[in-house]
Amino acid sequence: MTSSPLQPDLQSNAPSAVKTRKGEEHCCRVADEGGDAQSLDDLVQEASSALTVENCLPDDPRDDQLQFESLLFELTAKFVNLPIHEIDDQIGEGLRRLGEFLDIDRSSFAEFSEDKRDMVVLHCYTAPGIAPFPRVIVDGKLPWYAGKIRHGEIVRFSRLPDQLPEEAIAEREYCLQNGVKSNLAIPLRAAGTLNWVITFATMHKHREWPDALVQRLWLIGEIFANAVVRKRAELKAQQLHDHLTRMTRVNLLGELAAAIAHEVNQPLCAIVTNAQAGQRLLSAEHANVNEVRETLHDIAADSRRANDVIVRIRSMLQNQTPEHAPLHLGDAIREAVSLIYGPSLQKGVSVALHLSPQLPMILGDRIQLQQVILNLALNALDAMSQPESETRHLSIHAECASDDSVIIVVSDTGPGIDCKLQDEVFETFFTTKPTGLGVGLAISRSIVESHGGSIWVESELGRGAAFYVKLPVAKKAPA
Ligand SMILES: Nc1ncnc2c1ncn2[C@@H]1O[C@H](COP(=O)(O)OP(=O)(O)O)[C@@H](O)[C@H]1O
Ligand SMILES: [Mg+2]
Repeated sequence: MTSSPLQPDLQSNAPSAVKTRKGEEHCCRVADEGGDAQSLDDLVQEASSALTVENCLPDDPRDDQLQFESLLFELTAKFVNLPIHEIDDQIGEGLRRLGEFLDIDRSSFAEFSEDKRDMVVLHCYTAPGIAPFPRVIVDGKLPWYAGKIRHGEIVRFSRLPDQLPEEAIAEREYCLQNGVKSNLAIPLRAAGTLNWVITFATMHKHREWPDALVQRLWLIGEIFANAVVRKRAELKAQQLHDHLTRMTRVNLLGELAAAIAHEVNQPLCAIVTNAQAGQRLLSAEHANVNEVRETLHDIAADSRRANDVIVRIRSMLQNQTPEHAPLHLGDAIREAVSLIYGPSLQKGVSVALHLSPQLPMILGDRIQLQQVILNLALNALDAMSQPESETRHLSIHAECASDDSVIIVVSDTGPGIDCKLQDEVFETFFTTKPTGLGVGLAISRSIVESHGGSIWVESELGRGAAFYVKLPVAKKAPA
């Protein structure tokens, strides 16, 4: 019988020789492979070229082999540009499809714990009736097995427990107890670290693990591991970005501290005045009940006003993860603009708010979008506080741009922005202010883009600046 990559051609026991992707003889030590971490795209490309039918099936182009190659192509291609929230599902699905195709009883994709002693199972596939792996494979339980993998050795056995070396006492016991008849474990490297392992085991029969199969499963395993690394890096970057966004918001509110104090102080003063008036009314000989009722009504309304300001500020300072929910853009803009009436009065700037009554609902994070409006409005106030600004007018305008988008325009009568700088102002750390951070517009752009929108400026030197924010309208749920 001709041996084929999917048919047994090795009576192997670890360590044994595995052909590397580059074709040279290679001992099973993945850890010694060294070299730079490969990008996912490189791996996918490499996998695609290694998985050509020519490479795999020189002698025996059987149907199931062709199907296996096309399954590998399919799994590999799935991971190119796969959104990070789908990565876990696709690894689980990949293990299942490989397991079913290769008639494997249990497979897993695991990662070493931080101290490198234990292996944490991230995904596990089991055939019907087979118990899954425990979530953590502790070093103490299978020390010989864990040690081999930790040192980057591929562990493969076609006949268990017979092929186990004498020192693998716990492993022999485990195989007998769990009926494991064959096993393959491939340590995996991603981002330069040997930190993952993909395993396959059979319980209902003995199974060979030929080099060509190991090589293919190894590539798929490294594609899984690289995807996990990419997911974590993107989540970390997202966290840092959220943190920076919040810090700039705190900074923005710091700039508004005086205005906020004024906003809260006003209703508090009115409450005190009304309370005193109420006392006077009650001490009169014939107290007018209606007047007392009105005074109490005013006191309640002012308390609500003060409370509203506090609630708004507190929510802007909260460390919440951004959440896109349906929102009334007009209400959100009105709330944000209410915070700048105080500072604009101080700077002699008149403010006009034009909100189209037909503004549709949009899907977005209220606090983040208010941050964008506040930043644009405060930049405009800053621009107009220079002594040479004679006319000082700020306009905030929002209307439907088309059926599926709304547009907000924040325009001022300040000095404007040189056309050569109109892209640069959105770059991180671009500022012309002595105490500016230069991150407001960069963050605003990333917020708007994360909402599927765009932001740009139109301006002529000496004729003010107009910042445009275009946002998509929330799609109506199908009836
Ligand atoms: N309305 C405006 N008019 C003129 N220049 C502006 C305006 N808005 C922003 N800019 C310019 O863009 C720069 C970057 O703004 P921003 O990213 O908010 O950072 P910062 O306000 O800390 O400087 C400002 O320093 C200013 O030079
Ligand atoms: Mg700014």
